[in-house]
Amino acid sequence: MNIDTLKTTAQAMVAPGRGILAMDESSPTCNKRFEGLGIPTTIEMRREYRTMLVSSPGLGDHIGGAILFDETLRDHTTDGRSFVQALQEQGIVPGIKVDTGAKDLALHPGEKVTEGLDGLGPRLAEYSELGARFAKWRAVYTVTDSLPSQACYTANAHALARYAALCQENDIVPIVEPEVLIDGNHDLGRSFEVTQHAQHTVFAALADQDVDLRGIVLKPSMVISGAGAADRAGIREVAQETLRCLSSTVPAAVPGIAFLSGGQSDEEATQHLNAMNEIGGSLPWAVTFSYGRALQAAAMKRWAGHSDNVESARQVAFHRAQMNGAAALGQYSSEMEKAA
Ligand code: 13P
Repeated sequence: MNIDTLKTTAQAMVAPGRGILAMDESSPTCNKRFEGLGIPTTIEMRREYRTMLVSSPGLGDHIGGAILFDETLRDHTTDGRSFVQALQEQGIVPGIKVDTGAKDLALHPGEKVTEGLDGLGPRLAEYSELGARFAKWRAVYTVTDSLPSQACYTANAHALARYAALCQENDIVPIVEPEVLIDGNHDLGRSFEVTQHAQHTVFAALADQDVDLRGIVLKPSMVISGAGAADRAGIREVAQETLRCLSSTVPAAVPGIAFLSGGQSDEEATQHLNAMNEIGGSLPWAVTFSYGRALQAAAMKRWAGHSDNVESARQVAFHRAQMNGAAALGQYSSEMEKAA
């Protein structure tokens, strides 16, 4: 493990005013989004769509890293460059999703554990050869009055830590992603409790596996009311409670925290990030974004599978990246949406 390499990569991913573009949807997930918009679900269309995204002019001003799916890391853009090369030309570090999905957790109905550790060492070595400098592994936690179980916390933390150690051994920065799902009626307090315990458990497991925290990026969910909660907390409260939670769990050695959007609307995700950076003061880590849906949804809708729409879709993608880049500095305002 070369800690200097890991630190350099992590710093580039979460550099000031930059965040991460999560475009690592598996083919079935990408197809599901396409179906919703009537776009043909072929590899050619996925290639066209992803080419549109990575070729958006100026994207690298606000995006430090992009997470790819296996198919894309091995693929070429419609103009014949590898996706890795297309990202590098924009100054964007290429990364790769390496987990093989959340599967049912034995003896725990309604809960999931993320799989993919078998053979991961050699896979990471190959991904590194292909140009990936960081990786992603997502654990999910379902919230009810009685869940998550301790079994779910422990199993997912253990897998995240084993994955992170394998990444570091291959000089690949692990994005460690414990996602507390927004689905459900839980209130902000319950989201805080579950998020805090998930993060505590993850950092204990990372320590057990001797993971060097200077060479990871944490990708958490925000402390937020459940999507179906009767009285959902406002922007400021979400930002405050999220920062209070992270301050109690995340050591200062971690260079960056890059949030997932997890089903929030585009502007809501931007507003929450901005509020955190506004009220944050001198936080020990960079606080930025690693959004999937909240960065892509509007651009995908604009593109809708028609080559005539590529240019305007690129502008839409750039705009969302720019808004979130501003939010990562605490310099976003809703007037900037209208101005655009
Ligand atoms: P969302 O921002 O759409 O939640 O996706 C981020 C991600 O990478 C989930 O693993």
